[in-house]
Amino acid sequence: MSNPSLLILPGDGIGPEVMAEVRRIIDWLGAKRGVTFDVSEDLVGGCAYDKYGTPLHDDTMAKAQEVDAVLLGAVGGPQYDNLDFSVKPERGLLRLRKEMDLYANLRPAQCFDALADFSSLKKDVVAGLDIMIVRELTGGVYFGEPRGIFKEGNERVGINTQRYTESEIERVARSAFELARKRNNKVCSMEKANVMESGVLWREVVQKIRDTEYPDVALSHMYADNGAMQLVRWPKQFDVIVTDNLFGDILSDCAAMLTGSLGMLPSASLGAPMANGRPKALYEPVHGSAPDIAGQGKANPIACILSFAMALRYSFDMGEDATRIEQAVEKVLADGVRTADLMGPEGGVPVSTSGMGDAILAALDASL
Ligand code: IPM
Ligand code: MG
Repeated sequence: MSNPSLLILPGDGIGPEVMAEVRRIIDWLGAKRGVTFDVSEDLVGGCAYDKYGTPLHDDTMAKAQEVDAVLLGAVGGPQYDNLDFSVKPERGLLRLRKEMDLYANLRPAQCFDALADFSSLKKDVVAGLDIMIVRELTGGVYFGEPRGIFKEGNERVGINTQRYTESEIERVARSAFELARKRNNKVCSMEKANVMESGVLWREVVQKIRDTEYPDVALSHMYADNGAMQLVRWPKQFDVIVTDNLFGDILSDCAAMLTGSLGMLPSASLGAPMANGRPKALYEPVHGSAPDIAGQGKANPIACILSFAMALRYSFDMGEDATRIEQAVEKVLADGVRTADLMGPEGGVPVSTSGMGDAILAALDASL
């Protein structure tokens, strides 16, 4: 059997720095666990635009369709802010999501004990928090037509369209219920059925999938604005949250901050199974390219490393090694190893990006 294949797209800003630490872990797995990946690397985002005039070259897109999993760092930077919309770095990422049809975006928000004091919320609100947001990723207002800026009489009008078909809602609902069965069997679906027809349909379809296929899973519905409030008020009431593309974008940033730092959170974007049974998959940290600290060795590589752990779990059936990496992260945090973003008001000396990588590798060694 051939080796599992990975396409690495470090991207812009801190992307290459944090991805370098993932590559060290891939090497570690090869040396110490006998798992070898076929790794290739390519450009996405602003760096691809600089070289090719497009944020995602067709060849890169084709490669992404062929590999078992794609690992992405981050895209974007202020130097690209004034580019035409169609070639902005973000379009590269959106094209990958759309053309690979990665409809289910899994965004876990987990509060590590060692960081519970670091959240902007009270410790008892976040300690032990472990929730999973399932964000629909290929539909809704991000992609709906018509869209654009049009002339209407004497003025312009900006238009985007929220649109969901029943089958789009069904498939992401199934992803959420399947995940819930492996967790605490509880799903909360969020929309705005009080103002949006797409929300009415969303609620109806999610309920139907629950009643016909997952009667064992508890389902509740919440308006997304209330959901945002509840996430901050008492997030531990949730297990799995399923929601649309735009609400999921916003709610997942909100959930991320519960855990202390955006620098901690991984994500998996999954599509339908390929011929080999593995889902189409892209893994990326939730954080962005952080141009303000890029190139300084200050970035926290944990979100990217945990994204790779998700790849091991969801693409490669290597749950044991995924857990090993997650436990190594937990261990170094418990030992007080902190990158700059994890420095509390009491201060201390932060480690660099590669310093965090060193500590995690040492913890991995110790786990053998
Ligand atoms: C995210 C990001 C992206 C999104 C941007 C970079 C296009 O905010 O992954 O949450 O809006 O989906
Ligand atoms: Mg976002």
